[in-house]
Amino acid sequence: QTIRNTGKSHSFQKLIQAPLSSCTCLLRRKSSDVSKKFLSFDEVVSQRRDEARRSLVVQVNSESSFNELYGYCSNYASINGIHHYKNAGGEHFMLIEFSTEDNLKEILRSCGSHQKDNDIMALQSPFLWFRACSGKKEKIAPTSNTLITKNGNAAIDENLLCEELGSCSTVSDQIQLLYDKTMLNDLGIRLRYMVARQLEIVFESLYANIAVRPFGSSVNGFGKMGCDLDLVLSNNLTDEMSDPTKRLVYQEKKSEGGRGPWQRHMELVGELLELRIVGATRVQRILHARVPIVKYAHEFTNIDCDLCYNNMSGVHMSELLWMYGSLDPRVRPLTFLVRRWAAAVGLTNQHPGRWITNFPLTLMVLFFLQQKTNDGFILPSFKNLVNRAGKEDIRIAEENVNCTFLRDMNKLPLECYSQNQSNLETLLLQFFEYYAQFDFQEKAISIIEGHPVRKPNALPLYIVNPLEPALNVSRNVSFEECERFKLEVRNAAWQLEAGLEGEKSDDWGVLGLIEKRASRNLKKLLRVGNSHRLVSVKDLFNDNEENISEEGLRSKLQ
Ligand code: CTP
Ligand code: MG
Repeated sequence: QTIRNTGKSHSFQKLIQAPLSSCTCLLRRKSSDVSKKFLSFDEVVSQRRDEARRSLVVQVNSESSFNELYGYCSNYASINGIHHYKNAGGEHFMLIEFSTEDNLKEILRSCGSHQKDNDIMALQSPFLWFRACSGKKEKIAPTSNTLITKNGNAAIDENLLCEELGSCSTVSDQIQLLYDKTMLNDLGIRLRYMVARQLEIVFESLYANIAVRPFGSSVNGFGKMGCDLDLVLSNNLTDEMSDPTKRLVYQEKKSEGGRGPWQRHMELVGELLELRIVGATRVQRILHARVPIVKYAHEFTNIDCDLCYNNMSGVHMSELLWMYGSLDPRVRPLTFLVRRWAAAVGLTNQHPGRWITNFPLTLMVLFFLQQKTNDGFILPSFKNLVNRAGKEDIRIAEENVNCTFLRDMNKLPLECYSQNQSNLETLLLQFFEYYAQFDFQEKAISIIEGHPVRKPNALPLYIVNPLEPALNVSRNVSFEECERFKLEVRNAAWQLEAGLEGEKSDDWGVLGLIEKRASRNLKKLLRVGNSHRLVSVKDLFNDNEENISEEGLRSKLQ
């Protein structure tokens, strides 16, 4: 993917590259912010939301439609930049960012609809189609501008990634490279905000002061290319709307029946997704859960979405994770590696169940980085952030959950973080060793305290929810899964240490940790000289199968 300065109408000169690559790269800093070391989550989110308000996604014939589209749209409005990508169906799209929201409104006013058809009811949406020119082609002056990204949402090819990881000279470089090559990129983030904006536009006419915000891995800095999109729909009253001195007040429809009124409204949301949200497919309603959600797939952007109502504590949790990730440049690469390793050894799983998920796993990494060792610690306790909160940091989420903590990391004294200077390789090994000897039977993991605390019950794995301390975020994890976690961290520590000695091999450094077991076993098969039988042998293994010895493989083949 190429990132180029595209000339005069473009304001990329103003873009900044954050210290080390991160999802905040390519965001503009206001001149008053230049001296700031850290941007706040709110600042990043409001820039992204604003960007989405000024952007459109247009389906085109191919990548070479760029010139024509650029010429056509620049007749109406000034363009900041155009990104190209393809969806799973191989269809081509261009995300266009305009200079102002007014520009975009002007374009939308001028859009046509499909030919009059009984089964189509037109609706303004930021997802458009660029119709081939009928009749005489207008002359379009060639532009000196070029696409900012080509094929911008393609994930890196796994074989290429392994090759690049194999040629790194240190394990720390491998961990950094894995992060750089697999993190959710700028276009991935833009598209997620476009999907949120599309819902907002449709719901705006039905609910006052509606907002649809991404949360979870799409915005917390721990998302990889292709990650799911968690969305929260909220319609909180503004202070102005709830001002008791106002004499004219809306007549409002009272919801009747049902467990919570929002369950009924979420049913409507499900219907709207099916009827009015272009690109939304496979809509599933899961309305009887503690947090009712509607799931759908967005086929124009290849994004799987989970939409819930008013889960603002989830948004504040994402903010907290984002802040921890931005405090020190080692936090995100280390977490990416751990998440990737857990998926490779089958500790995490795409389907819900009795296993650990990425969110509690991330809290485990943060907790490890809070430990005060001889080398010092890297992250502050959550208690420290709560104690430093000011009036401007007060946030109370639904069900009175107190989400108040220091937001502006520039106010955090230097001695509160990054005291330990160890490299990523050392930290990874220490992570595995730390949890290999952790007393899971007696102790709970609490990022509030930053040190192990006594477990309040006998659940196998106890990870305190920092915003709701009475809750365990890993209450679903079974005894067997917790045992497997202990076994796998021991294996990983051993494997990493053993792999650092002697010659570089296929499994060198982190490669042995992040490759799926099934593919590792297949590689071994190739080495024992049975490549001609691979097709049928492939079915002998599953991803979770223990690391098999070469003798074991030979006996399976007999
Ligand atoms: N969350 C929470 N409490 C939980 C579970 C989730 O507050 N017990 C919030 C967190 O902010 C989390 C978000 O909901 O990041 C989304 O949860 P989930 O999709 O499970 O995790 P992600 O961080 O999005 O990771 P993934 O990439 O696996 O989706
Ligand atoms: Mg998620």
